[in-house]
Amino acid sequence: MVLERTFVMLKPSTVARAMTGKVIDRIENKGLKIAAMKLTWVTQEKAATLYAVHKGKPFYDALVAFITSGPIVAMVIEGDEAVKVIRKLIGATNAKEAEPGTIRGDFALSNQKNAVHASDSAENAKCEMAVFFAPEEILTYKRADENWVY
Ligand code: CMP
Repeated sequence: MVLERTFVMLKPSTVARAMTGKVIDRIENKGLKIAAMKLTWVTQEKAATLYAVHKGKPFYDALVAFITSGPIVAMVIEGDEAVKVIRKLIGATNAKEAEPGTIRGDFALSNQKNAVHASDSAENAKCEMAVFFAPEEILTYKRADENWVY
């Protein structure tokens, strides 16, 4: 088992559409654990850090405008190979292409308003979770069903 933590963000469209529970349900049903979670706004400064790799791309300004347009839910998710597992669970970036059964495939229809973000590597996950959480806000505890998940 490779226990990992990854960063997940339910985007402003998911909060505005009152679909946070449905998305969180998918993550918890998989057996993954919520290690940290908060409803918050992405400031311009946080957006610049989060999307630094996209700076200069044609969609950058629209991306920052969208992510700062309303509250998001920031989460740290823990589990066996959590980075890879969550990416598979959320589906392709462009929600139009995302397979049915994935979160984006079932809850979104757009490249930008694609419901949810998840880190693409353990290294990026560390940087992204540090944007939203202090180390003491990321909790260690046992789920009651762990013996049945693993
Ligand atoms: P995500 O991977 O969560 O974080 C970066 C976001 O940039 C990505 O989701 C998409 O929402 C957005 N994005 C990536 N490529 C494009 C594109 N070509 N046009 C518009 N938005 C994009």
